[in-house]
Amino acid sequence: MGARAMSRKAVIESVGMAVAERVMPNSEFEAIVETSDEWIRTRTGISERRVSSDEETCSYLAAKAASQALERASCDPNDVQMVVVATVTGDYIFPSTASLVQDMIGATNAGAFDVGAACAGFIYSAQVAASMIESGTIDNALVIGVDVLTKFVDWSDRSTCILFGDGGGAVFMRAQENTNRGLIATVMNSDGSGAKHIKIDVGGSLHASGSESSKGKSCHIFMEGREVYRFAVKAMGESCCSVLEKAGVSADEVDLFVPHQANLRIIEAASQRIGLPPEKVFVNVQKYGNMSAGSIPVALYEAEQSGKLKKGGLVLTVGFGAGLVWGANLIRW
Ligand code: UT7
Repeated sequence: MGARAMSRKAVIESVGMAVAERVMPNSEFEAIVETSDEWIRTRTGISERRVSSDEETCSYLAAKAASQALERASCDPNDVQMVVVATVTGDYIFPSTASLVQDMIGATNAGAFDVGAACAGFIYSAQVAASMIESGTIDNALVIGVDVLTKFVDWSDRSTCILFGDGGGAVFMRAQENTNRGLIATVMNSDGSGAKHIKIDVGGSLHASGSESSKGKSCHIFMEGREVYRFAVKAMGESCCSVLEKAGVSADEVDLFVPHQANLRIIEAASQRIGLPPEKVFVNVQKYGNMSAGSIPVALYEAEQSGKLKKGGLVLTVGFGAGLVWGANLIRW
């Protein structure tokens, strides 16, 4: 997994985003669990999040973001060659959410598959699509990171219910020759021995819902917050430093840091470790909470809209989450 040497690059041409309509401010939790707006803001940096309705499914939000990205790239849906959806909250166990999205957006000539790497899903899926483009297997791809974790939240567990929100973003990638733009370097890691720290027990094949073995087990998100916190700061720091090293780039050369948005304190601690000043760090966790695979592409969209992310700029993205899994992409925008 070194820096890319190929002349054919996977360039991000456009971004789209879609979040659930309903805004849920911290104050609403005060009536549900023993918490306060002040505790949530100081411990996480979150002020509000989006909570999806029954109609706002994972595929619905993904298709909305994808259609916007295609429109902004002036690309006809029939010309899309691959739809990759990073999610752990797909509409079904199968079929894949990517196939649903491929149909919804009218990408009649595209292949489609899902990538499951939780909050690092966008890092992994962008790399997978870029590799297919660089190798010449395909010429373009839609890469979508999306999650609707509030549908799996235990609303009586104050240590998790306040953290998550629903939404996602999409990028349209296309092959280009003789350019310095595109994905430059990637690192991807996993430590499955930490699987127990963040998981949903029921619903997979181990404890299928309604089965004998699922009795007494939960179908909601379980998380050891402190364990994940410690892991996150270390993993973010390490993967960012190692992706920069692979690319032969120093932290000073990074124009914008777009980390997974789970907790402001994690982002601040990791930025310090990497040596990135606050003005180079993009943060929108206050508006959305943790949208898992959705958070990095939504942040990329908003960073571009706000003028912080410009064509030719060097952007460092990093994600971490259930698996445990983590990784970073260095991108010339
Ligand atoms: O995408 C990856 C997924 N996950 C993450 O990134 C999460 C990583 N972890 C975190 O962000 C933090 O660990 C949390 C925000 C989840 C928790 O913050 P913390 O500073 O690590 O708090 P803590 O778990 O150490 O809990 C401190 C206290 C506890 O009370 P006691 O045992 O000290 O009496 C908790 O019961 O805060 C209590 N607490 C709350 N109090 C008010 C936990 N949740 C709440 C709450 N409101 N919502």
